[in-house]
Amino acid sequence: MEFMDAKTLLETHGQGHVLAFWDKISADEQAALLEQITTLDFAAIERMKGMLNAAGTPAAAASAFEPAPVEVPEGDALQACVAKGEELLRGGKVAVLLVAGGQGSRLGYEGPKGAYPIGPITDRSLFWFHARKLVGLNATYNTRVPFYIMTSDTNDAATRAHFEENDYFGLPREDVFFFVQGMWPALTPEGKIILDKPGHIFMSPDGHGGTLAALDRSGALADMANRGIEQVFFFQVDNPMVAIADPSFVGIHAAKGADMTLKVCKKRDAHEGMGVVVVRDGHYAMVEYSELSDEQMERTNPDGSLWLAYGSPAIHMFSYAFLKAEAERAMPLHLAHKKIAMVNDAGEVVKADKPNGYKFEKFIFDVIPNAKTLACLAFDREQEFSPVKNAEGNDSPATTKRDLQKKWLAWLTAAGITIPEGTPIEIDPAYALDAAQLKAKGLQIG
Ligand code: UTP
Repeated sequence: MEFMDAKTLLETHGQGHVLAFWDKISADEQAALLEQITTLDFAAIERMKGMLNAAGTPAAAASAFEPAPVEVPEGDALQACVAKGEELLRGGKVAVLLVAGGQGSRLGYEGPKGAYPIGPITDRSLFWFHARKLVGLNATYNTRVPFYIMTSDTNDAATRAHFEENDYFGLPREDVFFFVQGMWPALTPEGKIILDKPGHIFMSPDGHGGTLAALDRSGALADMANRGIEQVFFFQVDNPMVAIADPSFVGIHAAKGADMTLKVCKKRDAHEGMGVVVVRDGHYAMVEYSELSDEQMERTNPDGSLWLAYGSPAIHMFSYAFLKAEAERAMPLHLAHKKIAMVNDAGEVVKADKPNGYKFEKFIFDVIPNAKTLACLAFDREQEFSPVKNAEGNDSPATTKRDLQKKWLAWLTAAGITIPEGTPIEIDPAYALDAAQLKAKGLQIG
């Protein structure tokens, strides 16, 4: 883009101040600024400005909702679905989609969260555990499951380097597809794009909902189509317990012909910070933890169980057709009032001591109301969910390692193997994806 084109475009949208320091910045900085302007999505920026007009006004009372029905898969019907899932895996119809673009600020780890060492014995990374599960799936079903990994500008190079250093964990390189999520500018309360340096626009990630647009933009959706993918397993980087594309989940989702299927699990307690799936105005929706009142979280059924008993750990199946259709729609935006260091009229960078700007994000679960067929399946969190969110306390590396070992100990016990209490355990998912595979190895210890 040339300077005059950028000037016209910015002025048309009331953002001419972005070029205020043009004459004071270097040629390299000028080129970088033009590049940034090229990436701006002005339609989205206009939507953001529209939201600011409403920001600060009290939200309309959210309409009433009921918890979504939850199915507990079991019996012969489940076995039929497992067979269906296995058939799809064998036929190369299933892809795996990982969102790993987050900043991991609560964990406070230098580098991509996926490179965090979580192996209780080997310090192997979160990415190692995820990738080795795909190696296990490929071997079990004699297939090639493609792995789509969303990164961000901040961690893309380091994520790719981590895969390189580890020889892609044994996966065929051509089956691993990295793509970068979008970045957006932040706005002042007056709707002006924020500069964090003279001639540099402050940008922040567009949220995990940015996955859909990024899948499309990067060619990942087209790659899925070329490979004949029909179903996509979605998960987050921080949970090494996740059962990736397990045939029962794939099969139940496919057998229902669902647009989307969510795994949900019993909340640890009424206040656990998980979103809940609800039915509101005749549509499914996710209500975030932060939107729930104490009364709603603590409400119980006549039998004493929690009214909102199940939470979503963001483990989903999508049909390819639904993902593609959703990628073509504009998703809702969510805004957050934040402290952002910004350039003043004199070109000085001023730190903020109170929130002074708005960042915008998209959330993947905003596609839920558009799903024509959707199901929630209960699963056992002790087998599948223990995320690394915080540096300490609940959902920290210590609790995740504890839960991994507890699960593996149960697998060993079920396989008839006894080991002295307190012995560290780590099982390569490519060796055994589940208790049954471990047992089938006929392993002897001691
Ligand atoms: P979280 O909301 O837990 O955020 O992301 P985070 O960035 O990992 O950690 P905090 O909140 O800064 O401590 C849930 C999942 O969504 C991905 C994350 O990588 C994680 O797998 N994510 C989040 C993205 O891919 N992009 C984003 O913009 C935000």
